[in-house]
Amino acid sequence: MTDAQPKIWVINGPNLNLLGQREPHIYGHQTLKDIETGLMDQGQGLGLRVECFHNNHEGGLIDLIHSAPAAGVKWIIINAGAYTHTSIALRDALAGVALPYIEVHLSNVHAREAFRHQSYLSEKAAGIIVGLGSEGYRLALEYISRKR
Ligand code: DQA
Repeated sequence: MTDAQPKIWVINGPNLNLLGQREPHIYGHQTLKDIETGLMDQGQGLGLRVECFHNNHEGGLIDLIHSAPAAGVKWIIINAGAYTHTSIALRDALAGVALPYIEVHLSNVHAREAFRHQSYLSEKAAGIIVGLGSEGYRLALEYISRKR
């Protein structure tokens, strides 16, 4: 792995650390660690430097996003969990750093409760992948590898 490889941050928000045990009929049986390990392996194969983060706190996610440009990040893949539906601050942070990002949700949020149909992040996202389980992150990475 070299520094010439584009750096991609995969950011997971609240409660996604519970994957594997959390409502597996909705979110599947893979743990977050399984998903992250798979993405880092995939990144290696694609020549991308994938770094994964999880934070349960809105401010922590915002601070992380703010630090992305100085860290040399080229793209962000983000599953902001429930903050997707509530956080104007997270939307502003992503807009503020002006990095392209892909919004991912494991479940099909549009087939669930009405409050999950609204996303503060979607409008400014390069793309959105919902309902394909952990495959969504993989597809996002594949897309980025073709765009760079
Ligand atoms: C989620 C969907 C959100 O509505 C929910 O709050 C989550 C997970 C998903 O990946 O399907 O925490 O982002």
